[in-house]
Amino acid sequence: MSKVVTAEELKAHSSKNDIWLLISGKVYNVTKFIDEHPGGDEVILAESGHDATEAFEDVGHSDEARALLPDMLVGNFEKSEASKLKSAAAAAQEARASAAIEQGSNMMYFVPLTLLGAYFAWRYYSGSM
Ligand code: HEM
Repeated sequence: MSKVVTAEELKAHSSKNDIWLLISGKVYNVTKFIDEHPGGDEVILAESGHDATEAFEDVGHSDEARALLPDMLVGNFEKSEASKLKSAAAAAQEARASAAIEQGSNMMYFVPLTLLGAYFAWRYYSGSM
């Protein structure tokens, strides 16, 4: 049985001297690798404590890079823990999305009401002349 890593454990390993990364549901100990990383240590540090899958995939890492992963494996990330890791970026995006929906539904009332008002104004003025 492989180890199951919790969100708390993942977050506890977020310093340069002790760093774990979550990529595609698996947790890797990159402490020894971080100094050798061709992309530098800062990008890896920035991905600690949350799901690094997107950042890892966006770079388009080679098969050679992927082949390094198994040696660093700590264990599987507990799926039920994923929700505790909502990144700041995801939270901000959600906030933006709900703001957009709100704005959209305001427009839903605003546009027909304006048209209705314009119609009655037109009737009023054209009728009284
Ligand atoms: C354990 C995880 C990782 C491993 C084993 C790894 C390994 C590698 C390797 C071998 C390269 C050289 C190019 C290649 O073969 O694809 C590379 C490049 C790079 N990596 Fe990673 N990487 C990891 C995580 C990350 C993360 C989380 C980021 C965050 C954005 C990242 C960003 C980059 C960037 C930007 C480069 C390009 C560097 C350049 O060409 O100037 N890597 N990585």
